[in-house]
Amino acid sequence: MKCYCSPRRYNYQRGEKRSSCEAKPKQTMKYISKGPDETKEIGFRLGRLLRPGDVVGLYGELGSGKTTLVKGIARALGIEDKDIVSASFTIIADYNTTPPFSHIDLYRIEKDSELDDIGFWDQIGSDSISVIEWAEKAEGRLPEKMVKVRLKSLGEEMREITIEGRNEKDWDNL
Ligand SMILES: Nc1ncnc2c1ncn2[C@@H]1O[C@H](COP(=O)(O)OP(=O)(O)OP(=O)(O)O)[C@@H](O)[C@H]1O
Ligand SMILES: [Mg+2]
Repeated sequence: MKCYCSPRRYNYQRGEKRSSCEAKPKQTMKYISKGPDETKEIGFRLGRLLRPGDVVGLYGELGSGKTTLVKGIARALGIEDKDIVSASFTIIADYNTTPPFSHIDLYRIEKDSELDDIGFWDQIGSDSISVIEWAEKAEGRLPEKMVKVRLKSLGEEMREITIEGRNEKDWDNL
């Protein structure tokens, strides 16, 4: 696993004036994963930074490794890999961890209104950590401060993984 760019650094000690939006700049980390285990490791490192209420959106084509990454995130919460399975049919899978963890897969969602019907909006935020595959299906209605992870297949086992978040996370320790 290799990280190709470090987060942009802002020196708050210099007292630079920023608007509230600028005070939370986006930070982007890019990795190349050479296999499922590396993708899980990236997920694990991200999972360790997550706190109650955090929402992670996963974007990427079929088979790009979203569920594989979720296994790593979930492991950081004490959930075993084998307990994370494709959530396309159940849509929402809840885990009784501390904090509670929800693995959501919106692949089968066709209309915005279905999100209301399945209680999606009651689910995210609150005290739980929510990780959402096919997050684009809820685009525009998800919290602005969510973490976005984009996965792109570069070959049979190679994936480009881009993690974009806001700077209240300790990205240097990812
Ligand atoms: N570097 C890699 N990272 C993740 N998965 C990989 C990698 N290399 C190969 N794979 C394989 O690609 C597949 C990824 O499947 P996974 O279910 O994680 O994808 P997905 O993005 O969740 O797909 P879907 O859109 O159907 O939910 C697995 O079979 C995995 O073993
Ligand atoms: Mg999946």
